[in-house]
Amino acid sequence: MIAISRRQALTADQTLTQPLRILITGASSGIGRALAEHYAAPGHVVGAVARRGDLLDDLARDHPSVAPLTGDVTDSGATARLIDRFAAEHGGIDLLYVNAGVGQRSCEEGWDPDRTAKIEAVNIRGALHAITAAVPIMLRQGSGRIVGISSLAGVVPLPSAAAYGASKAWLAFYLDSLDMDLAPRGVRCSVVMPGHVATPMVDGAASALVTPGARRAAALIAQRVARGDRIIRFPRRVALLTSIAALAPRWLRISIQNRRLAKRKGRRGL
Ligand SMILES: NC(=O)c1ccc[n+]([C@@H]2O[C@H](COP(=O)([O-])OP(=O)(O)OC[C@H]3O[C@@H](n4cnc5c(N)ncnc54)[C@H](OP(=O)(O)O)[C@@H]3O)[C@@H](O)[C@H]2O)c1
Repeated sequence: MIAISRRQALTADQTLTQPLRILITGASSGIGRALAEHYAAPGHVVGAVARRGDLLDDLARDHPSVAPLTGDVTDSGATARLIDRFAAEHGGIDLLYVNAGVGQRSCEEGWDPDRTAKIEAVNIRGALHAITAAVPIMLRQGSGRIVGISSLAGVVPLPSAAAYGASKAWLAFYLDSLDMDLAPRGVRCSVVMPGHVATPMVDGAASALVTPGARRAAALIAQRVARGDRIIRFPRRVALLTSIAALAPRWLRISIQNRRLAKRKGRRGL
């Protein structure tokens, strides 16, 4: 077996020779939980952050290398303390997944200032709290990777997705820009833009378009992150349709999205 450094392990898909220290926000369900399970299975050390401590305890029971870190990312002080504690206990952080998020479904009723504020608090400020706590640690190490779970919803403006789409566009833009500043000092950033993934956030609902489950999505994300990819969009067909939609006339985008939302509401009996 060839011995590799932590930095190499983050940029190439190699056999595990040295456990990575990985922090995942929003690890109690969906994509975050699947990522935690994916990395914990071969023995990487995973700090799992979320509010529902009982779910994190279940995760840790099944995977001894998971450290449950119960906390709310909207609380900047508490998030910094969790991240600092994890780094101190394990000697650093190799990989941070900024995954905690809310709101895809809740945008469907259109304009709502309370929902907008909640989405901003978790998806933007919560993300920033985790990034702000982890960057100094990674800079001191001279290595590390920050992976933001954005969304294809952040690629093109659509009706009923203003707050959620904007929050995901913010994360993608921020990390892609930050990568330019941090890369010369050994810290890299990646942006993941999934289409529809069957998780509790979307009521586990299947989409008319190709929908991976959380486990498949996590395996794909981990593989592309290990390759060192900066922008990760999937499923490919949905990513392609999104790029085409970005070029389509505004009236066509509005009409297609409204038809999609009406169909979905019909299925849910609303
Ligand atoms: N599912 C999709 O189709 C899809 C597509 C594109 C992007 N995404 C993005 O993927 C990420 C994960 O979503 P998911 O689909 O896996 O949804 P999910 O199953 O609802 O998971 C969301 C996670 O975020 C955590 N979370 C929410 N608010 C939090 C807070 N204030 N502090 C700490 N943790 C918090 C939740 O944990 P607690 O409730 O226990 O705190 C949960 O673990 C989100 O950023 C989402 O926007 C999802």
